[in-house]
Amino acid sequence: MPGCVFVPTMGALHEGHAALIRKGAELARHRGRACIVSIFVNPTQFNERSDFERYPKTLEADVALCREAGAEAVFAPSVEVMYPDERSAPVPVLPRVAVEPGLEDRFRPGHFAGVCQVVLRLFRLVRPAAAVFGEKDWQQLRVVAAMTREQGLPIEIIGHETIRDPDGLAMSSRNRFLSAVEREAALAIPRALHAARRARTATEAETAMAGVLSGVDVEYAVVRDAQTLANVGNGPARALIAARVGRTRLIDNAAWSP
Ligand code: PAJ
Repeated sequence: MPGCVFVPTMGALHEGHAALIRKGAELARHRGRACIVSIFVNPTQFNERSDFERYPKTLEADVALCREAGAEAVFAPSVEVMYPDERSAPVPVLPRVAVEPGLEDRFRPGHFAGVCQVVLRLFRLVRPAAAVFGEKDWQQLRVVAAMTREQGLPIEIIGHETIRDPDGLAMSSRNRFLSAVEREAALAIPRALHAARRARTATEAETAMAGVLSGVDVEYAVVRDAQTLANVGNGPARALIAARVGRTRLIDNAAWSP
């Protein structure tokens, strides 16, 4: 659907996805175009087979949510349609922000190759004028924006703020795997982002986050340049956290300024 506004997802949709779709639908309405949602659990972006296999599949409920949020159509392709042969779905040259920061790229090697591969394939099939991605996956948003620019695709990449549960936890399809005790422990993540806000320097913010996160298994809790995810410079910055709570890996982030 050339000219549409596109919201790519892996299904198991929640209110965070619904917010993206509502925004996509509103933008589409203004342009006299359709809002299209894709649902495809992309095998090439998972690091662990078990994580891929246990990814929740709730297509019927997902389609109902898409309709309610204002999407005109849902594209839910099979693996055969997405990956018919190697030539149809190449992995593009990865932008620097996908390989250099030492964040998701370090802890999920190969993940952004899979994300860029699937997003490029989806963009070529759907041919949108604009696509909406959540700030929840901040590095992914930066990677997709850079890849789109570097591939010369005429697609506007639009970010949407993170949607949270009332207790502050960022909504995620993975939250359903948390026990009550784990969920309580996971709240350290939004609390750490909050604590970082009161710090005067990036280093102080990182120390504050580490303190609040002492009860969970932290992969990283850092403050970086919001665009490049390199060390903080003069531009806007972002606090970013990845941590494991039980078997569940959670990520979150927030704007940060001194
Ligand atoms: P998925 O995890 O299903 O997320 C789809 C989109 O919803 C992403 O842009 C993600 O950032 C956004 N999102 C998820 N939770 C959110 C929340 N709490 N608030 C705001 N936005 C949220 O991300 C993927 O799928 C895949 O990597 C994909 C881009 C579809 C490629 O396979």
